[in-house]
Amino acid sequence: MSEAPKTDHAYDGIEEYDNPLPGWWKWLFIATIVFAPFYWVYYHGGAEGRSVEDQFGIALAENTRLQFAEIGDLQPDTATVAKFMGKDSWVKVGKSVFRANCISCHGREGEGKVGPNLTDDSYKNVKTLGDIAKVINNGAGNGAMPKWSHRLHVNEVVMVSAFVASLRGTNAEGGRPPEGNKIAAWPEPPPEEEVEDEKEKS
Ligand code: HEC
Repeated sequence: MSEAPKTDHAYDGIEEYDNPLPGWWKWLFIATIVFAPFYWVYYHGGAEGRSVEDQFGIALAENTRLQFAEIGDLQPDTATVAKFMGKDSWVKVGKSVFRANCISCHGREGEGKVGPNLTDDSYKNVKTLGDIAKVINNGAGNGAMPKWSHRLHVNEVVMVSAFVASLRGTNAEGGRPPEGNKIAAWPEPPPEEEVEDEKEKS
């Protein structure tokens, strides 16, 4: 060490050896610089489905479809939506469907943008829980609300309907003013055990 040349500066008598950086360190440094643009282009270059968030979304959707196989194809009607409104884990699936497909028009919290506010008590096309699924399946307002029956699994329609129903009364801030008519309260979801029993029976 003491053989190494010294740098030509000294501060208060403190000198510094002019040791070169080890070769492996320099090459590692250069390698990270070479690696970075490829990494950036791959993960952040705008290609669909490569970011960690997208991958997570894809894995979650796949897992959900596996579970769909277990529960079979649901009926998108009032009784089924009411039943799933009471199951938090499925409402979360509905939330992810909503986040993926609906927030561009209905807002992140359902407060409404092009589409109506889903967090108040007034609806244009909905009187019952089943109507929510109907609107989602068939669209409304001459296509201003697109039809989703060919894009979403019938179970996804049920889950996202349950989620939309759960937004009612949250009165998200900055929302669109109420449109349509005030409608009767949703039916109470059946208690959780009952839902499980029914599943075992069928
Ligand atoms: C392209 C914009 C757009 C997208 C995307 C969209 N909606 Fe809509 N939605 C609308 C419009 C506009 C209406 C109001 C239709 C009308 O005037 O009758 C509406 C109405 C609705 C209604 C009925 C509300 C009422 O007051 O009657 C529900 C429920 C709904 N949308 C749910 C969804 C869900 C769930 C998704 C995602 C799967 C979704 N929407 C995606 C634009 C959209």
